[in-house]
Amino acid sequence: MKASVTAHRDYRIAKIDDRVYGAFLEHLGRAIYTGIYEPGHRSADASGMRTDVIELVRELKVPIVRYPGGNFVSAYNWEDGVGPRDKRPTRLDLAWHTSESNAVGVHEFAQWCGAAGAEMMLAINLGSRGLDEARNFVEYVNAPTGSYWGDLRKKNGHAAPFGVKHWCLGNEMDGPWQVGHKTAHEYGRLANEVAKTLRAFDGSLELIVCGSSNSDMKTYPEWERVVLEHTYESVDHISLHMYFANRTKNTAEYLALNAKLDAYINTIGSTIEVVRVAKRSRKKVTISFDEWNVWYHSNAQDREILGGAKGWPHAPRLLEDIYNFEDVLQVGCILNTFIRRSDVVKIACIAQLVNVIAPIMTEPMGAAWRQTIYYPYYFASVYGRGEALQLAVKSPGYDAEVADAVPYLDVSAVYDEEGGTLTFFAVNRHGGEAIDLEASLHGFGDARIVDHQVMTSANLEAANTLKNPIAVTPAKGKKAKVNDGLLTATLPPYSYQMVRLGLASR
Ligand code: AHR
Repeated sequence: MKASVTAHRDYRIAKIDDRVYGAFLEHLGRAIYTGIYEPGHRSADASGMRTDVIELVRELKVPIVRYPGGNFVSAYNWEDGVGPRDKRPTRLDLAWHTSESNAVGVHEFAQWCGAAGAEMMLAINLGSRGLDEARNFVEYVNAPTGSYWGDLRKKNGHAAPFGVKHWCLGNEMDGPWQVGHKTAHEYGRLANEVAKTLRAFDGSLELIVCGSSNSDMKTYPEWERVVLEHTYESVDHISLHMYFANRTKNTAEYLALNAKLDAYINTIGSTIEVVRVAKRSRKKVTISFDEWNVWYHSNAQDREILGGAKGWPHAPRLLEDIYNFEDVLQVGCILNTFIRRSDVVKIACIAQLVNVIAPIMTEPMGAAWRQTIYYPYYFASVYGRGEALQLAVKSPGYDAEVADAVPYLDVSAVYDEEGGTLTFFAVNRHGGEAIDLEASLHGFGDARIVDHQVMTSANLEAANTLKNPIAVTPAKGKKAKVNDGLLTATLPPYSYQMVRLGLASR
């Protein structure tokens, strides 16, 4: 089948915010314990952090990491995780029915982020707790010494403020499963008062208020409208979450799901606009899509632990999805959507980063390896920085449950003017036919191919495991060409690719 793309140097959507390639780490399962932290592991540094994992995170150039939850945060006492380790209490985590040793807290996480080259994005408990604990936490983390909380932080080993800019005002407060779940009015009022108070401490903080847990919630999108009515002038971003699943083993339907993601972003972008205009505000609230990923492979395995059938285990194997090749295509399509919606999505966090629905897996006392989805995330994060282009795309398509005329070609393009590159990320959603792609390049001058990476597999279920960590990896593409401003490439059935062009300096 044939598909065409027109890229024009002057047709730009927006600068892609680097924070769109962020990630999430929760005190859940083995994300922290035996994930990033494992004293005694052969690669552990002096503070017990696994450097083999840090290296993989650095390779991904993760700009920002959200922490410590997730559902976990809604019954978390941040104070439990500071001070001498031997005095820290073991608590029961009500979100995941596990035991939390508190061996890792905000100091250890800060140190880990420093080593991983990422900024911290901290979540505040607005489930079981409220305004006072929120302000104490923010002051503990950011206040100068000479104040009560700043001095306590110094006593605990860190005199300099951590300088955390991004703060999430709770997590999924619309969800009945959340400890301290609230109505939109209850939450909106509380979030606004907390935001006001935090701003009184530091007006430059970036505050993220909770939107919907997913677009199937009964309260969506009225939740966002009401919450923004309360908080519009005091917050910067509204948080959205979405997880993707192929429960019915229908690849065509599965790979169409980013149309639903796009509609979700569109609806909340419009809701923001309605509230902005109603408030006669010049301020633009944007979207923090701070949980997204494929999540379903591990559901059956998790039921016993979530039901408490195994007591309160410490760091059990929870939410350990083993990703397959099909998920590479899905994650490629999701990231393309975030690039295309860079006008309104300014932060996004893959959920999560290590072991728990994650691109990086570890074995306790053993190896760390890249899951299949590591690769599309890697390519987008490392090479997808610049400005998103508004492409004109012509591609045959198919009707799916979530949308009509879903194009077989899912594509985004990123122009890095300073670096002199133009990069295409493309997925062929057709399982039986290759796509002969022609992309005409307008206004870019001479272009040459500097990199072409292709991911294909004869088996949609192929996965990287401890035994075979390199079953699914990218390969160099050889056949793409550029002649007289026309890029041609053949995209094999069910494939992901990145084509990177070097541009002659203008
Ligand atoms: O990422 C796993 C869980 O998904 C998070 O704890 C929660 O916020 C969401 O429901």
